[in-house]
Parts: sequence; C-alpha cells; structure tokens
Amino acid sequence: MQTDVIRLTGMEQDAPVLERAGRIIRAGGLVAFPTETVYGLGGNGLDPAAAGRIYAAKGRPSDNPLILHITEREDLLPLTEEIPPAAEILMQAFWPGPMTLIFRKSALVPKETTGGLDTVAIRMPSHPGARAFIRAAGVPIAAPSANLSGRPSTTAADRVKEDMDGRIELILDGGPSDIGLESTIIDVTTETPTVLRPGFIGKKRLEQLFRKVDVDPAVYARPEEGFVPKAPGMKYRHYAPKASVTLVEGRPEAATAYIKQAAAEAAAAGRRTGILCSRETAPLYAGQEHVIVLGSREEDETVAHNLFQVLRELDDAGLEAVFSETFHDGPLGDAIMNRLRKAAGYQIVQAEEAEGEKNDSNRM
Ligand code: TXA
Ligand code: MG
Repeated sequence: MQTDVIRLTGMEQDAPVLERAGRIIRAGGLVAFPTETVYGLGGNGLDPAAAGRIYAAKGRPSDNPLILHITEREDLLPLTEEIPPAAEILMQAFWPGPMTLIFRKSALVPKETTGGLDTVAIRMPSHPGARAFIRAAGVPIAAPSANLSGRPSTTAADRVKEDMDGRIELILDGGPSDIGLESTIIDVTTETPTVLRPGFIGKKRLEQLFRKVDVDPAVYARPEEGFVPKAPGMKYRHYAPKASVTLVEGRPEAATAYIKQAAAEAAAAGRRTGILCSRETAPLYAGQEHVIVLGSREEDETVAHNLFQVLRELDDAGLEAVFSETFHDGPLGDAIMNRLRKAAGYQIVQAEEAEGEKNDSNRM
C-alpha cells in the first residue's frame, strides 16, 4: 500500500484532501492526522474492522482501548450511557483541548474499539486540522497515537511516515504538534475524578475545580510495585529508544556531576553516548558528544514539546547509552517525568548515592 503525505494549509484548498480522507475512513481505511497533543492514527470508531486494522498497523495488543475523537457536544450523547456532573465541569473548562474523559459506553461503541471494556475514552481536540478531518469523516474517529507500539509518539508528519509507511492510506501533515505530550486522561465514572494519565492539564488545575482529585497510583509506581493501571495502555513498555537511557535523580549539582562522569566512562568504554539536559546545564557538559538540550527549566512547555522528537533523535544518532537529567519542577513535571521514566524503562539512579555504587548493575 502506498502512503501519501499531504500538507494541510488551513485554507479552502484543503477541501479535496479532507474529502478524500473522509472517504478513506468511511471505506474502513486509516488516516493519520495532526492534533494539538501528538499525531493520531485514525479509523472509523464505530467499525470493528477498522479497530482491527489500527491494532495491526501499530503492532498493538488489542486489549489496549482506543480514544474516540469528536468535534461537537452532540456527538458525545450517542456514545455514552450517562454524562456525570464532573464530566460537565471538565468539558466546560477544557474542551476542545488536550483532555480525554472516560465514560460508560453505549451499545453503539463496538467492544473492539474499547478493548473489551464497558467504558469508552472520548476526546474533543482543538487542532483545526483534526477538527476538519473528523467533520469530513462524519463518524467518531478512533485514534491512538500514530507510532509503532512501544516507540515514542509522533509529533510531526515525517515521524509518522517513518513508522506507518506502507501501513496506512494517508497522512495529513499539519506541521509540528503544539503540546507534544498526549492528552490528560480522566476517569469520570468514579465518585472522585481520577487522573489515569498525566498530561498538559495538570493536577493543580483540576484541583481548582474539584474538592478532591485522585491520581491512579500506577501513574507514579514502578511496574514491580504491582499496581494495575486503570488505563490499560499505561502498563506497556513505552516510548523506548534503542539506547539504554538512565535517569539521574538528585540535587542538580550532584546529578550533573554524576552524568558527566558516567557519560565519560561509557564513551571511554566505546559506547555511543549521549546526554539529555536543560539549556541551563548544557554548558557543564562542554566537550562531551551528543549533548541534547530538551529546553529551559523555566519553560517546561518547551521541554514537553521537544521530548518525543528528541527521543527519536537518540535513535537517529545511533546512541547506545544515554544519561538524562530529570524535570520534576514545572507545572508539566508529572507528565514529562511519566514519559521519561517509561522511556528509561524505569532505569533510575540517585546521584547522591553514586559515589559508592559505581559498578551498580542498575546503572548500565
Ligand atoms: O493525546 C492523545 O490522547 C492522543 C491523540 C492522538 O488524541 N491519543 C493517544 O492515544 O494518546 P493512545 O491510544 O496512544 O493512548 C490512549 C490511552 C491508553 O493508555 C489506553 O489504555 C487509554 O488511553 N484508554 C483508552 N480507553 C480507555 C478506557 N475505556 N479506560 C481506561 N483507559 C483507556
Ligand atoms: Mg500511545
């Protein structure tokens, strides 16, 4: 199958492209499209066979449910059994935008789309290209992130092509994704709204709307702690570059010193070595190869925006050992660290303890 990439301009000349994209979806095919978070891999959300094609294209286990993308409030009603009061508050505040809500599903939504669950994830994106595409299709669009299962999500059309070439009919190129991290997922079927995946809309903003907000404990836990995540996709190994990535926690001075030494040792051992750091600390690594800046610590939106692109650049450069600083502090710290911990396969060290543990097998 040939995969075409067509640029969306946001102008009238997009009409024939959108019409074609809509036809592909209604015929059971797949179209990747831009959103404000990451690119989506879209199919007809009401068609069980389309869900099957999405799982096959991604190489994704079919127990991992898909998000349905809509553009209007009216589109929600036929897909859900009930709309709880908490959902009304959240939709009012954050839709259209980078927030996905979990509802009890109606009979219209096929089990193939929800991975067999009785609930359904629904999101109303704000990206004009996404909205035009969903409208052109005329059906809810089931869309996971447009990457091969296990790889970093894609935030630009060329990266979608890298993973999906020959697997889908069309890629709509809307330029780089603005936010760069997937949506915040909130379960509103529970008494207290519960964050299942942190994202651009952080817990603090949610706490301005509700007396209490829960976070699924699996979000912060290591896999060996045994919490089963309520978002099935959160249990899989994710975002993993080919390099072994080590996150270095600890006070900034200790962490940078640790990274500098560990990177020098890895390079001396003949491994292609890289460093992920902030703009502020980059000069400390002068003289090391592959020092990649995620962004300023003052602007964690930039760090979020760059993260998936940078994780793919590690593979472009053929790196084998990567040492990364951590980014807990800003409003997006939870979301960034959630992705980074997974990218590192939970390989995390404490810089303060580093001195005595140089040969800790944990590190490499
Ligand atoms: O920003 C986003 O959300 C992007 C763009 C394309 O909209 N989509 C995205 O989809 O990140 P995906 O499939 O990569 O991640 C969806 C997550 C998975 O962890 C999945 O398990 C969870 O949402 N999910 C979907 N339906 C669910 C449900 N009914 N209950 C709990 N979790 C659900
Ligand atoms: Mg994904």
